[in-house]
Amino acid sequence: MSTPHETIIVLDFGSQYSQLIARRVREAQVYCELLPWHTPPDVLAAKRPLGIILSGGPASVYDQDAPTLDPWLLESGLPVLGICYGMQLLAHDLGGAVAAASHREYGPANLTTVDEGSPLFAGIHAPVQVWMSHGDRLESIPAGWRSLAATSNAPFAAMGSDSEKRYGIQFHPEVHHTPRGRQLLENFLFGICGCSGDWTAANFIDEAVEQIRAQVGDQRVLCGLSGGVDSTVAAMLIGRAIGDQLTCVYVDHGLMRLDESEEVLQNFDRHLPVEVVAVDAADRFLSKLEGVEDPEQKRRIIGHEFVETFRETAARLGSFDWLAQGTLYTDVIESAGHGTAGHGTAANIKTHHNVGGLPEELGFRGLVEPLRALFKDEVRHVGIALALPERLVHRQPFPGPGLAVRILGPITAERVATLQRADAIVREEVDAEGLGHPDAVWQYFAVLTPLRTVGVMGDGRSYGNVVGVRAVSSTDGMTADWARLPHDLLARISSRIVNEVPGVTRIVYDITSKPPGTIEWE
Ligand code: XMP
Repeated sequence: MSTPHETIIVLDFGSQYSQLIARRVREAQVYCELLPWHTPPDVLAAKRPLGIILSGGPASVYDQDAPTLDPWLLESGLPVLGICYGMQLLAHDLGGAVAAASHREYGPANLTTVDEGSPLFAGIHAPVQVWMSHGDRLESIPAGWRSLAATSNAPFAAMGSDSEKRYGIQFHPEVHHTPRGRQLLENFLFGICGCSGDWTAANFIDEAVEQIRAQVGDQRVLCGLSGGVDSTVAAMLIGRAIGDQLTCVYVDHGLMRLDESEEVLQNFDRHLPVEVVAVDAADRFLSKLEGVEDPEQKRRIIGHEFVETFRETAARLGSFDWLAQGTLYTDVIESAGHGTAGHGTAANIKTHHNVGGLPEELGFRGLVEPLRALFKDEVRHVGIALALPERLVHRQPFPGPGLAVRILGPITAERVATLQRADAIVREEVDAEGLGHPDAVWQYFAVLTPLRTVGVMGDGRSYGNVVGVRAVSSTDGMTADWARLPHDLLARISSRIVNEVPGVTRIVYDITSKPPGTIEWE
């Protein structure tokens, strides 16, 4: 299916940076899709791309099972930019020579010469810093191509054929360590492929609304709301498209942060002009969790109760044709089988519970997933374009099972209340310091442990719980580093929690990165 946008295709050869390339292209307001390298040519052609980017990848073109380039790609006459492995494939298929390297080149390098006459390097002057990460390197380039840039030890750091609009670069323009990478990608998109940059939040909203109307017609849609930005934006788009044919359900499992459910419902009230049914299921969840200490067991119970509560509520509200979900492009990519291995999935470290996978027995015709094409940061832009408040748009990620995975040991109403109070202090103080933004601190929260230590309170001896404070920087939650919060801020957090939250006598700060740790403690 072709899209109404100018489209660029990024073919994924398994690089750790493939998604990043796609995000950089989208940041330039050009729509692009990241597809596995083995995507059939008719599927690619049907998308009517204006250009193709070949990602890097871990293979060597000489490996027996090395990913290959479909001949269609070169016959199509489309502009092509090969990055790293993508460049080597171009060279290999067009008669250049690739040499197996004895060791990987990894790290910063300098382009000492750059051909500014080529549209790919327009406005980029040598010397210029780039980031290398490759094994094999180019020994000679295809006939009719030119070297466009060199480093002191690589004569072909970039090559191209301006007349055919085909280029290869050995370095990675998509990473921050290549400061002029953005310019280079924009040169390719705008100067070479002829894109104009028509992928904007406003255009997206208009099209999403039209598509939802076409999909749903006059039928009814049910949408589960979590209070997070994805489900809220999805519901807003659907509400804009079909008004009161949409009903939203918010299941309050009683494990939200302090006053959060009230705030979430007020937000819905203000910004979602459709019916929102709130179900207070706190007692039900707490009673099922009684005496349970195993983290996976907690997740399973919450997942199960969530589906049951949702199912009962849906049945009470009548019959629905469609179920709405805030599925993102990252979920789509992750289930599509990218990379050289083709279909690898990450090991299941934690069972993540989301609205996803609600049983077909509920009788839905199918799913409405208006965010399927978007990365998380694009959802935030759409949220802002829909006039959602900044506070909601930049809400830190919050796990589906809520505070349950931050209460080590048994979950009781009293322990939930203790954690809520400690957590509220962490959030207040980090926000007051101006760090409550995903670019500064990605997630920041408190964790309640069952450990008890001795303290002094006034003249007496106290014996209370240890609370852990966790704050991490991250871009996607997949990897993370512990945030270097200012010591004075940590001191305020610590003294406020111990003074204001009964039963807590000691505060520890978590200095574990991910990997090897995870962001949540359970
Ligand atoms: P971990 O702890 O695995 O967390 O490093 C990575 C990101 O996922 C969030 N997280 C969850 N989200 N259901 C969710 O919807 C869950 O069960 C869950 N567990 C962790 C976590 O907050 C972080 O953003």
